Amino acid sequence: MKKYWWQDTIIYQVYLRSFQDTNADGIGDLQGVIKRLDYLTWLGVDTLWISPHYDSPMDDNGYDVRDFYKVSPDYGTLDDFKTLVSEAHKRNMKVITDLVLNHTSDEHPWFKAAQDPTHPEHEHYHDFYIWQKPTYTKRGERTLPTRWVSWFGGPVWEYNAALDQYYLHIFSKKMPDLNWRNKTMREALKTMIKWWIDLGVDGFRVDASNHLEKNWDFPDAKPGYEHFSSLPKHHEYLEELGAELFKPNNLLIIGEAGGATKKEALQYAGFDSNEFNLLIQFEHCWADTDSDNTVTSGKWATGPLNLPKIKKSFAHWIDVFKNNGWNTIYWANHDMPRIVSHYGDDQRYHARSAKMLAYALYVLPGTPIVYYGEEIGMTNVDYEHLTDFRDVEVYTEYENFIRRGATHERAMQALRDRSRDNARSPMQWSDEAYAGFSPVSPWMKVNKNAASINVNLQRHQDDSILMTYKDLLALRKAEALAHGEATFIDLDHPKAYCVKTVGKSHTYIVVANFSDATLDYPIEPKLKGYKLFMINVSTIQSTNTLVPYEARIYRKRH
Ligand code: GLC
Ligand code: CA
Repeated sequence: MKKYWWQDTIIYQVYLRSFQDTNADGIGDLQGVIKRLDYLTWLGVDTLWISPHYDSPMDDNGYDVRDFYKVSPDYGTLDDFKTLVSEAHKRNMKVITDLVLNHTSDEHPWFKAAQDPTHPEHEHYHDFYIWQKPTYTKRGERTLPTRWVSWFGGPVWEYNAALDQYYLHIFSKKMPDLNWRNKTMREALKTMIKWWIDLGVDGFRVDASNHLEKNWDFPDAKPGYEHFSSLPKHHEYLEELGAELFKPNNLLIIGEAGGATKKEALQYAGFDSNEFNLLIQFEHCWADTDSDNTVTSGKWATGPLNLPKIKKSFAHWIDVFKNNGWNTIYWANHDMPRIVSHYGDDQRYHARSAKMLAYALYVLPGTPIVYYGEEIGMTNVDYEHLTDFRDVEVYTEYENFIRRGATHERAMQALRDRSRDNARSPMQWSDEAYAGFSPVSPWMKVNKNAASINVNLQRHQDDSILMTYKDLLALRKAEALAHGEATFIDLDHPKAYCVKTVGKSHTYIVVANFSDATLDYPIEPKLKGYKLFMINVSTIQSTNTLVPYEARIYRKRH
């Protein structure tokens, strides 16, 4: 049953820096988003999420906010922002922005005062951040308060000599963590949030939301994530924001929090929770890692695709939110590789596997988030030199790989496979110079395949990835698939993906081969009364045989 506007909306995530440049400085901007609103409407999108647009030294592309009340001059002015909101609203499109609450930039005036004992407001702001005294060995050597490891690699502590204290940063050292136990700090953030709500934004994606609370006993551990992630008290802070600001303003709030249990997930995004409406969790995102690889470990260690893990994760989250809340579906975002390169094949089966991934996801219940460029099958980028990368995370991790024994080439390959920069290259609009993104050389390299993978080209091909997205998004709306009942079939099958979703007038069965080998999969008995509706290859060899990455959608009227 529909209760809220965001239940059947289709969200599109724009990475502002790379979407469309309009003033020839090589950087995407707000006017660029405005310019492309009609494209997004055409595609079927009705909610826009833009990555941080605030003034920032751009250590982490705007997730390091210097002034919450100012638009980054890279992106335009506050007037441009207001125009974006009103132009979107004219088209019945909602706008949600990123809200970065876990940290600020070290160039934020609060931190400048906090770190400088001679600053007139030092006392007031010092406690807005998290400080710890060093301990000294008998020999007078300074030691870190704990061995906790930052999400970007390296220690979470940075020393400040003037204070003889360390500040905590769980991301880059230019992003000191805010102290959420400080009520004055929380009030200051609330004032800021209210200010943006009054400007007309329709919601927020709350960045790094499960990290707000820390273990203030600072126990030693390595990497120590349990001491700065998902501590129970962070729900109190979110609840406070929700009850005072989010719920009363009918906003859409998307929370970012990995690793939640069912109970925690409902605490975040259950219908009777005030915290969020949608939850971005990452369970399906790294279903292809190799835990034996310690040189390029964690997400960097490529391994075989574990399809059952993906299916079980989808099924799990559908179940968690059934009746009690609302599911969110997405393949990837700005922190992950491009999905067609990651779970598909961006070479031999580029279009086919991109469409296969679209069929598999966009029939599922919940609110979808399409990541910019996904709709044309944008791929990972073959960055040749370390200096081609822009992401702050890349540089610490590269050092880590080399220290653990990787050759330069091996380290580069890990970055090419998994770095966040894969998903941040300029949007490929056309085969013009710089992909129609900008008339000048952009802030980050355009993918070499832009001449063959771009919007212009695909808009004129009936069977392109783009047209497949357009059709699927329209189908979602027409059939209210967001509210559909989904059942996975053969969850443990290692290569076949099969799901049944009940829509308004039809029941749909998607069957897909998630591999680059021909697959015999006896689907025929399950298809009684069903008719073929969509397919990503030109002909079917036999009903029970799927060629590499073949996918079909069948349907039956009810
Ligand atoms: C979130 C963002 C990521 C950013 C980090 C720190 O995980 O998605 O891009 O680097 O928070 O703000
Ligand atoms: Ca620009």
